[in-house]
Amino acid sequence: MAILVTGGAGYIGSIVTEQLIQAGEEVVVFDNYSQGHRSAVHPQAVSVQGDLRDREALRRLFQEHTIEAVMHFAAHTLVGESMEKPLKYLGDNVVGGLNLLQEALAHGVRRFILSSTANLFAEPKRLPIDEDEEINPGSPYGEGKYILERVLAWLERTTALRYASLRYFNAAGASERYGEDHRPETHLIPLVLKVALGQLPYIEVFGDDYPTPDGTCIRDYIHVVDLAQAHILALRALEGGSRRYNLGSGQGFSVRQVIQAARQVTGHPIPERVGPRRPGDPPVLIASAERIRRELGWEPRYTTIEGIVQSAWEWHRRHPHGYPD
Ligand SMILES: NC(=O)c1ccc[n+]([C@@H]2O[C@H](COP(=O)([O-])OP(=O)(O)OC[C@H]3O[C@@H](n4cnc5c(N)ncnc54)[C@H](O)[C@@H]3O)[C@@H](O)[C@H]2O)c1
Repeated sequence: MAILVTGGAGYIGSIVTEQLIQAGEEVVVFDNYSQGHRSAVHPQAVSVQGDLRDREALRRLFQEHTIEAVMHFAAHTLVGESMEKPLKYLGDNVVGGLNLLQEALAHGVRRFILSSTANLFAEPKRLPIDEDEEINPGSPYGEGKYILERVLAWLERTTALRYASLRYFNAAGASERYGEDHRPETHLIPLVLKVALGQLPYIEVFGDDYPTPDGTCIRDYIHVVDLAQAHILALRALEGGSRRYNLGSGQGFSVRQVIQAARQVTGHPIPERVGPRRPGDPPVLIASAERIRRELGWEPRYTTIEGIVQSAWEWHRRHPHGYPD
């Protein structure tokens, strides 16, 4: 009996796969390698190349492997791109999720974990953002995730499927073996580290006139290994019923604080330039992770921004050009 990890060649999926294998689970990775990397797939995982839009490929996957649970990471992930190409996100991400659910249900799967997002909360009324906050997706990307959350809520009512929707805030950091290598890279920490590695001349700060203490946006960074542990806890808790959790560290750091932490960790001056705001960027996004702490005993190991940047830096220093493939 294996756990299917879709998108297991990507950033978060590869590290969740690693942690699952370390916890003694069998893992089947399904990825089309549009963003993933072959060398990011753990050698003990069974790797299947395929696309979620290809229903036949999914059928074969479930026929050939005995899957007991699904962790669904595979998706297009760029909020900004989704504003320019809404149907790519509302199409592929939703259709891929539906195909996966149809085959999973047809093959008796009863546990499903969805990678959801802080982008469900475009205009939070209260900070930190807890699970009672009104859902108001900030982009077609976020809307696609919300549609899948709604589908899962109906499947819970009408089938034996139990699910967890984990709404990550900003995943960051690395394990010893696997790290973040998106192409193009849009995330702050790897971009700042590219400056420290001499691969970018400066880091662009998107707006410094927000209503925050230093004028730059504040975000909640959660270490990817802590995120992986939350998946394992959620999977084990599903017998007790479905659940939705906001997942962050509960602390916010501004763009300038992250850059400053990277200067400290790397010893590089990391020059910055202020550019225009990005449309749709809320000033502050901080998660309340109280519910998952209380219900599942989740406890993040990485609690400082320096610790998170340090772990990313160690990986990027060892892999200055990312994965070889
Ligand atoms: N990185 C973050 O901070 C963050 C925050 C919130 C939510 N998420 C969600 O977490 C998940 C993983 O994010 P990530 O940063 O690891 O992204 P990623 O791009 O590194 O990984 C996604 C993987 O899915 C694969 N994939 C994409 N479309 C596919 C398809 N149609 N069929 C098969 N494989 C496909 C890609 O090749 C890639 O390996 C995504 O669903 C993302 O929306 C990420």
